[in-house]
Amino acid sequence: MQTARTPANLALIGFMGTGKTSVGRLVAEYLHFNFLDTDEMIQARTNRSINDIFAREGEAAFRALEREVVKELATRERTVISTGGGLPTNPDNLVSLKTHALVICLWSSPEKIWERVSHQSHRPLLHDADPQQKIRDLLAAREPFYKQADVLINTDLRSAREVAQQVELQFKLATRG
Ligand code: S3P
Repeated sequence: MQTARTPANLALIGFMGTGKTSVGRLVAEYLHFNFLDTDEMIQARTNRSINDIFAREGEAAFRALEREVVKELATRERTVISTGGGLPTNPDNLVSLKTHALVICLWSSPEKIWERVSHQSHRPLLHDADPQQKIRDLLAAREPFYKQADVLINTDLRSAREVAQQVELQFKLATRG
């Protein structure tokens, strides 16, 4: 896919469990770029876990921290940015990312997402009586935001390495000559 701009960075968006962090690390290696993860940035600067921030201050406070971090990313170059799953639901975040990054969405089905996240406990939004239904509901609500990415890649039938190769290819196509 062609974009009218030459992005300095690459941003990965998508639902929890679509592999943004593991794919992002691989792509950063392939491109010899730095790697940043917005959740890790928030945890480092607050010295608290995402679970803790949600429990003590609520989701709105977490979203405000995300917004701050996104604004700062505009000064970056040669960086692969992995983003928290809810970050693109604030349209300002997507607008900001698109000023400096090619935005690629990693897409998965609710079933595959459940397969990947069911054994993990660090995601407060999935601490729910029916986490599988929560995944379906959130994914449906967020789909319009994810679809605003420059490129959409289905990860269901691909390994992290295969997805990373696709992401690298798309970035090279968008930044060539
Ligand atoms: C969230 C996704 C998480 C993290 C927080 C909220 C979301 O990131 O930002 O738990 O709203 O989908 P990952 O997508 O990396 O799991």
